[in-house]
Amino acid sequence: MSDSRIPRHIAIIMDGNGRWAKKKSLPRFAGHKAGVETVRRVVKLCVEHKIEILTLFAFSSENWRRPQQEVSLLIQLLTIALEKEVKKLHKNNIKLQIIGALEPFPKKLRQLVVKAEKLTEQNTALTVVVSVNYGGRWDIVEAAKKLASQVELGKLKAQDIDAEMFESNICLGDLPMPDLFIRTGGEKRVSNFLLWQLAYAEMYFTDTSWPDFNKTEFLTALESFATRQRRFGRTSEQVEKCSNNA
Ligand code: IPE
Ligand code: IPE
Ligand code: MG
Repeated sequence: MSDSRIPRHIAIIMDGNGRWAKKKSLPRFAGHKAGVETVRRVVKLCVEHKIEILTLFAFSSENWRRPQQEVSLLIQLLTIALEKEVKKLHKNNIKLQIIGALEPFPKKLRQLVVKAEKLTEQNTALTVVVSVNYGGRWDIVEAAKKLASQVELGKLKAQDIDAEMFESNICLGDLPMPDLFIRTGGEKRVSNFLLWQLAYAEMYFTDTSWPDFNKTEFLTALESFATRQRRFGRTSEQVEKCSNNA
């Protein structure tokens, strides 16, 4: 039986890599590299705590605005991570999924993504979703385009479109929506991450930068989640009555 005090789906904005490196007088890239270590750590923790889905923001549609050199290094790092980590993920029964617009990336990276998704498709211990060149607005616009083309073809009536149908056309639409949103690095904003999908996620912000995000931090976030009362529009009394009857 699922325990509602444990999130099924955690979504994380892994932020603060650059500032972490700067503080140590290292190049920003050193922060991104250290961030990969944290990804390994958090994936392991999610498996241990029986989290079903972990969605990570690795590269936003706005991150192209960064200096060309940093963008190239990030793409390189992602490529290397895919080359090196996928076998290990598969061995641990972890499914990998990538969301975002992959067209602008080098062919090699796109091929690695297809291969990794295919290899790990049937795995069941944890689903790790990596968002690259992802933007919440892009996601919503893409869903609107898909529905509009159905209307254009006469396969769908505009008045029949509802939230459920919309959701089945956006990224992660086939999964339970995120229960817990974590942002490291001190900023308190969503930065165009999962705009639709976070509608009822519990928000957790920490000043700790992503490379320093460790087991204790992870457990603190889970503890914070466990204390929240999720009402989804209802009153506390209604929610309490429901949980007493469960
Ligand atoms: C997050 O860390 C990683 C990416 C956006 C790729 P940042 O690189 O944004 O680190 P800060 O926010 O500059 O410290
Ligand atoms: C969000 O972090 C994107 C990722 C972590 C991949 P940013 O560092 O790009 O966000 P802003 O620019 O501070 O809002
Ligand atoms: Mg940042």
